[in-house]
Amino acid sequence: MDLSADGKEIEKIIVSQEQIQSRLKELAAQIVKDYEGRDLILIGVLKGAIMAMADLSRYLQRHVDMDWMAVTSYGAGTKSSGVVRILKDLDNDILGREVLIVEDILDTGLTLSWLTENLLSRGAKSVSVFTVLRKPDAATVKVEAKYVGFDIPSEFVVGYGLDFNQKYRNLPFIGVLAKHLYS
Ligand code: IMP
Ligand code: MG
Repeated sequence: MDLSADGKEIEKIIVSQEQIQSRLKELAAQIVKDYEGRDLILIGVLKGAIMAMADLSRYLQRHVDMDWMAVTSYGAGTKSSGVVRILKDLDNDILGREVLIVEDILDTGLTLSWLTENLLSRGAKSVSVFTVLRKPDAATVKVEAKYVGFDIPSEFVVGYGLDFNQKYRNLPFIGVLAKHLYS
């Protein structure tokens, strides 16, 4: 793995490890304020949200429940298939609960709009969205992300949970994947 920004695999770093952590701290403080006196369950979307769940939850100075779902809208490549499928469902009932979905990236918004509807249909009291990254295409769908880490250009990125063919999730920063790897 070549971690340098001018390396063969990562074209450039667009969000550094330090930027991610300080932004998560800010958003965590905002979440604590917004949910003061309220219930809160974080639902992490596997596998992309693992890093965000681990870091964000540790910055939350309050009690939270945590649960996980695995859904898929992407195949092995870099283009959305448009199909959302549950691979792993929640372990717990969310009837009457205040849910905050934790996602890695909001791209077309297909995944998050489907997930929000799905969780509301189970009787959640509220469903809000936290996403580390948001791409410009997200503007074309009606998914309102209440907490957004960074708005980024429409490029295929990896790191901090985001993968390309299951690799690069362990990078502590977010980088643009070199085009020669997938085109
Ligand atoms: P959406 O349904 O188009 O919003 O896509 C959401 C999902 O697609 C995310 O949870 C990611 O798993 C994946 N995805 C979208 N863009 C990227 C990217 O740039 N890199 C890696 N995965 C991505
Ligand atoms: Mg993915």
